[in-house]
Amino acid sequence: MTESTRESWRVVDEYLAATLLDDDPTLTEAHADALAAGLPPIDVTPLTGKLLHLLARMTRARRVLEIGTLGGYSTIWLARGIPHDGSVVTLELEQLHAEVARANLERAGVSDKVEIFVGRAADSLPRIAERGDEPFDLVFIDADKESSALYVDWAIRLGHPGTVIVVDNVVRAGEIAVRDTDDPMVIGSRRALELLRSDPRVDATALQTVGSKGWDGFAVAIVV
Ligand code: SAH
Ligand code: DHB
Ligand code: MG
Repeated sequence: MTESTRESWRVVDEYLAATLLDDDPTLTEAHADALAAGLPPIDVTPLTGKLLHLLARMTRARRVLEIGTLGGYSTIWLARGIPHDGSVVTLELEQLHAEVARANLERAGVSDKVEIFVGRAADSLPRIAERGDEPFDLVFIDADKESSALYVDWAIRLGHPGTVIVVDNVVRAGEIAVRDTDDPMVIGSRRALELLRSDPRVDATALQTVGSKGWDGFAVAIVV
């Protein structure tokens, strides 16, 4: 794609965000502080954050699981979509990311409904399962793409019929459909999509997106 194509995607994202979204200094600062702390600029866009927020409301989610916290940008959107006595459990590998997220969640006034597990998600998930809490109503998978299939399996096990699962970054500028890739992230996303198709416990689709983060996409599934 040319630079001008990318630029038009960004301009349209800005138009849609300016037209549909409130100006939100807390969210803008959460993104900016994460950048300032050296975190990568890979949080969801404002429009995608709002979609996650709306999905939480549409599913009347009380319990949300997020895998991949980064600086807490998507976490804030999700936390704002659930009731006061609901909870978001979010999993993050990096101590620094979790610290930045804690500060951002505090400032957003949602820290009392968010619990951050620091460490490898593959280690945190069995601990969460052992607690035997209520199942999750909505799961956002957005961490190491190599493990997305494993996370889909956990999302199903920790969910219930009706639980909605969103898997981010399944298109990666079209790489997903390039047969001979050796990119482990793409191979991981492909395995996640194949599992969503073959596993009788879920039904799924996926959409391509263009916007300020370029060309990518996400899968959406429901536990049946
Ligand atoms: N959901 C965030 C972006 C997440 S970026 C948002 O939209 O705002 C992906 C995050 O996953 C990074 O912070 C990275 O450190 C984390 N991560 C990578 N591997 C992980 C693992 N094995 N377990 C848990 N988190 C991991
Ligand atoms: C990457 C990760 C993401 O979660 C994302 O939304 C975009 C890019 C990455 O690791 O390259
Ligand atoms: Mg992502």
